[in-house]
Amino acid sequence: MSATTLVTAIGELVTCDETLGDGSKLGLMRDAALVVGEDGEIAWVGSAGEAPDADERVDVGGRAVVPGFVDSHTHLVFAGERSAEFAARMAGEPYTGGGIMTTVAATRAASDEELRASAEARVAEMHALGTTTLEIKSGYGLDVETEVRILRIARAFTRDTTFLGAHAVPPEYADDRAAYIDLVCGPMLDACFKYVRWVDVFCDEGAFSADETRAVLRAGAQAAKLLRLHGNQLGYGPGAQIAAEFAVSSLDHCTYLTDDDITALRDAGVVATLLPGAEFSTRSPYPDARRLLDAGVTVALATDCNPGSSYVTSMPLMIALAVRETHMSPAEALYAATTGAALSLERTDIGCLGIGSRADFAVLDAPSHVHLAYRPGSNLVAQTWIGGERVCG
Ligand code: NIG
Ligand code: FE
Repeated sequence: MSATTLVTAIGELVTCDETLGDGSKLGLMRDAALVVGEDGEIAWVGSAGEAPDADERVDVGGRAVVPGFVDSHTHLVFAGERSAEFAARMAGEPYTGGGIMTTVAATRAASDEELRASAEARVAEMHALGTTTLEIKSGYGLDVETEVRILRIARAFTRDTTFLGAHAVPPEYADDRAAYIDLVCGPMLDACFKYVRWVDVFCDEGAFSADETRAVLRAGAQAAKLLRLHGNQLGYGPGAQIAAEFAVSSLDHCTYLTDDDITALRDAGVVATLLPGAEFSTRSPYPDARRLLDAGVTVALATDCNPGSSYVTSMPLMIALAVRETHMSPAEALYAATTGAALSLERTDIGCLGIGSRADFAVLDAPSHVHLAYRPGSNLVAQTWIGGERVCG
């Protein structure tokens, strides 16, 4: 039987449970404590002075505690790097997604062990930065064998794995896109089926068309997979309307949205996932979270960690960029990086610290969550806990 743990002397506890604490969306408590139960769940939260006994006791000395970050959009399993492409962009080249093939070639050539070890190093970086759950997509294989290899490796790190065979058309199918879509919807999805919870498509300028996107989403739905979509990153387009039509769980990027797109997302209950690392790394205009939030759309934040458009593992940096560049308050950005991102993964067991939630949290070397945006560039995460176990710090 596992021990119970009392974490006490929490200067500010962010529960993201509005039934707790100050009644705001962050459910804030001061001078608080929490108890991790025997199953790694939150068994109790409240005032430090009223905390029950537990087998072990950890005093965090007045620091803030926040739910662990949920990085709901990553392309974490890949080989190689594309810093030359980044430097060219900073000198004025636009981002087109064309560099995906560079990573596909490197990934196909890499061994399983190379792919696993590099992904593991990125996961370790994420844990040290307070991330406690992540999603991982395929999409740098684009052949049956490599897509399966990527997903089998990804599966060791998360249950939220996503088949993204429709990330780009590989060179061997350049003259026959329809045949590639048939491969993705048929044999490739069949081979990846047992390794994934999700199906995704890159629906954008220079990527997949509306009809191609619908074909892949239909195949994903027929296979009883949950759906998410990359869209509206590179320009206005059909992504948001298709996301609403299929009632996908999340539309990711959302950089270019019309008012009608925002209404459609809201009415269909689609989470809008913003990936400000991509705008940062491609020097593109940032999305406007204010329009989404004011319309009543649930917003999530994630890193989009990938070697092309956002080689970033830091959720605190996403929070800082979201506040500075997309017009979110620090509270809204933290909520988006935890509960919002969990909702985009159809998960209610994580992303908050209510009773019964998984005890995933970060202890910050700061008196309040506002410091996440106020002190960009410093790693304020002093400890990371997953399922009640201290994994960092
Ligand atoms: O989410 N938008 C499409 N795919 C990735 C980037 C892929 C790459 O450039 O390697 C993204 O930004
Ligand atoms: Fe992406």
